[in-house]
Amino acid sequence: MTPPRVRIRDTRRRLASLAALTLVSALAVPALSAAPAAAATPLRTLAAAKGKFIGFAAATNPLANEAAYRTIAQTEFNQVTAENAMKWESTEPSDNSWTFSGADQIVDFAVANSQQVHGHTLIWHQQTPGWVQGLGATAMRTAIQDHIATLVGRYADNAALVSWDVVNEVFNEDGTFRTSFWYNTLGQSYIADAFRWARAADPNAKLCINDYNVEGVNAKSTAMYNLVQSLRAQNVPVDCVGFQSHLATQYGFPSDMRQNLERFAALGVEVRITELDIRIQTPRTSAKDATQAQYYTNAVNACLAVPACSGITIWGFTDKYSWVPDTFPSEGAALIYDENYQAKPAYTAVNTAFGGTPTTDTQAPTTPGTPVASGITSSSVNLSWTASTDNVGVTGYDILRAPGTSGGTFTQVGTSTTASFSNTGLSANTAYRYQVRARDAAGNVSAVSSAVTVTTTTGGGTGGGCGATATVQTQWQTGYVIEPVRVTNSGTSAISGWTVTFTLPAGHTVTGSWNATLTTSGQTVTARNAAYNGSLGAGASTTFGFQVSRPNGDTATASGFTCATP
Ligand code: XIL
Repeated sequence: MTPPRVRIRDTRRRLASLAALTLVSALAVPALSAAPAAAATPLRTLAAAKGKFIGFAAATNPLANEAAYRTIAQTEFNQVTAENAMKWESTEPSDNSWTFSGADQIVDFAVANSQQVHGHTLIWHQQTPGWVQGLGATAMRTAIQDHIATLVGRYADNAALVSWDVVNEVFNEDGTFRTSFWYNTLGQSYIADAFRWARAADPNAKLCINDYNVEGVNAKSTAMYNLVQSLRAQNVPVDCVGFQSHLATQYGFPSDMRQNLERFAALGVEVRITELDIRIQTPRTSAKDATQAQYYTNAVNACLAVPACSGITIWGFTDKYSWVPDTFPSEGAALIYDENYQAKPAYTAVNTAFGGTPTTDTQAPTTPGTPVASGITSSSVNLSWTASTDNVGVTGYDILRAPGTSGGTFTQVGTSTTASFSNTGLSANTAYRYQVRARDAAGNVSAVSSAVTVTTTTGGGTGGGCGATATVQTQWQTGYVIEPVRVTNSGTSAISGWTVTFTLPAGHTVTGSWNATLTTSGQTVTARNAAYNGSLGAGASTTFGFQVSRPNGDTATASGFTCATP
């Protein structure tokens, strides 16, 4: 997406505008079931109540391709940093040749989910292309200035992008300057220049210096402290200091982290934990999990104790995608969800530290009933089943499908928050098997149900199908109007009726409707055609609308519109 063109001059207005953008995009994002997380208030809700952000480093591949990844990303976090997509090699691999696809993908995701974005990173000695590294002093200065002007400038008007890592990892462990190609060619002047050019490109973004092994008070963090103090004394626009916090249980927790954050805060800068992960020597054991959880608690507490600490970014969230095993041999499992997106004790620790009371429930829901198929067409089937029960509440179901009447592998084709599901996009005259399993609010998963076998119809003119798309016509603090919901006969023959179902966020109630009859069960609303608009020829469409009231300040809207015939 192209960043919005409106120039917004201060951070508070940026955030107001971010909220507005979110409302518009809410319907574009398909509703996903609750995260397979602990029975817990999401981290973002808890962190926001404490005035902090909680974020994750986003990897572009799973963000594009894995629903489970996206679900947790949008449910649990209100901040995003691009793990790699905004680095020099990703954005300007050769001189003045730009690739913004990954960076834009992450910014778009953030905008759609009311998340703030931290730009990472402008000047680093790694993941910078060879063409930059070999430049002479004059050409290197020009390259830095151009790179910053173009990349920072691209998002300067985007309300979601609130901060940048301008320089990254400029120090050696003993506090001397790293003799990177930047330093060897330009001396330390590149640091002040980069900050000034970044300020020129985006006067509103908070500009940060970022490093690792600076969490406690030590030679390296003291060198950073002195540099920040001296740069600010020279009016170099350093607004913020990032503490990467790539920690390892084998090296102990930096117990003076809070004290260290406080001394930086006293310089007048924002501080933030930018790349938190806490690796263990694999394999996991419950004892190592417990130590890791305690370190996560300590890190959150350090930030909570310091008003100038704006928040915490975890360097990923699932052990399925973490840089740790690739970088530190025989270490890993550094994040708060395991490879199967199940919350670990570290998740519970972070949630609790932010003030949550996550349950420790381990009881799985009862096995759902065998799915019953109805409304079979040449390309779709409706499934419903007897709901599971659970002590802490069923949050949703996974729908699994295998090809044919026997053999093959069951893979997940969707999720549902209710005991029914419509599977579309099937091949005509083809057999499929379906099973379902339930998830509870603590992330426990039931056994899978027995399978039902479904064979789609032959099609060729006998099929009728329909689709529904919804538009938010208008909205206000405490309600909104969805008009039109356009119902289209997507089949090859006339239909004599239609049923559109959709989901209301918690606390929302329908207060009126037109051109359809609405019934509500839990959060699910079923809209049945009126007497006069049920018959639709192939390709024809009709519309209906409704009004909803919602809790003051809630920005969510109804979602997950699906259509079935009749
Ligand atoms: C890492 C990424 O996680 C990896 O995917 C990539 O291969 C290398 O970089 N400090 C930083 C981050 O500032 O940008 C690094 O990210 C981790 C260390």
